[in-house]
Amino acid sequence: MQLVFLLLAFLLSPGAEAGKIIGGCEAKPHSRPYMAFVRFKIPEKTSRCGGFLVREDFVLTAAHCLGSKINVILGAHNVTKVEETQQHIPVRRAIPHDDYNNSTKANDIMLLQLERKATLSTAVRTLKLPVRGDQVKPGMTCSVAGWGRIQVNRSTDTLHEVELKIQKDEVCKSLYEDLYNNAIQLCVGDPKKEETSFKGDSGGPLVCNNVAQGIVSFGKKNGKPPRVYVKILSYLSWIKRTMKLYKLQRSD
Ligand SMILES: *[C@@H]1O[C@H](CO)[C@@H](O)[C@H](O)[C@H]1NC(C)=O
Ligand SMILES: *[C@@H]1O[C@H](CO)[C@@H](O)[C@H](O)[C@H]1NC(C)=O
Ligand SMILES: *[C@@H]1O[C@H](CO)[C@@H](O)[C@H](O)[C@H]1NC(C)=O
Ligand SMILES: *[C@@H]1O[C@H](CO)[C@@H](O)[C@H](O)[C@H]1NC(C)=O
Repeated sequence: MQLVFLLLAFLLSPGAEAGKIIGGCEAKPHSRPYMAFVRFKIPEKTSRCGGFLVREDFVLTAAHCLGSKINVILGAHNVTKVEETQQHIPVRRAIPHDDYNNSTKANDIMLLQLERKATLSTAVRTLKLPVRGDQVKPGMTCSVAGWGRIQVNRSTDTLHEVELKIQKDEVCKSLYEDLYNNAIQLCVGDPKKEETSFKGDSGGPLVCNNVAQGIVSFGKKNGKPPRVYVKILSYLSWIKRTMKLYKLQRSD
């Protein structure tokens, strides 16, 4: 039943990747304690995304993961299993970027303020954001993890991960044309390899040297790399401003 449901959720997921890792392998349980499994409702179905804990009370994800009744699971390895390390926390407020464009997917970034603070543990921790000037360069190897599809037709309930290389901007400019903007996006994944993020991995972090540099955003429908990631460095002030604003409102 559970599997049928997951499969349906995948088959119905839209062009933007709701979440998946292809060509990777299962992650060591809880080796990425910042990972958040994000579940939400969009008309007529339940969908899922990845995300990551950036503060005890905030998860960062993609704006196209916006829906109603958003819940996050922290500390999970197998999301369909009852694991002692898991913390299921409802989302108090979803704050997509004001300039998110649903047709071009520009500014595909969203903060989720949690209903309560996560309890930090060995299985639940925050991931560092980059500091100003901390640029990634083409050729650099980073990694991405998710609970998305592991093959075009195969879903998973355990966290999978894969290493990916940052590509030159020109590679995505020629593939995605006006949809790719190097000021706010990263081009990730070697076109010669069958390794990539895919449906179900959306919102998950691209991790380079233990720092979140990107967010899984979108790519070609056939799942081929390279794919487009949100460049977190371009949104540092938005992230800080937004977390501060909603923290202040809390004491009203
Ligand atoms: C995940 O947990 C479910 C429920 O316990 C189990 O049926 C499934 O086999 C597990 N998946 C993996 C890959 O271990
Ligand atoms: C989204 O981007 C397209 C292409 O740049 C533009 O025509 C459209 O007006 C934008 N939509 C919104 C809501 O800003
Ligand atoms: C965004 O676009 C998709 C397809 O392009 C559409 O199905 C969806 O309803 C749109 N969402 C919003 C909030 O406009
Ligand atoms: C995936 O499944 C669909 C429907 O069963 C099938 O038509 C398609 O060929 C499959 N694709 C691959 C790559 O196996």
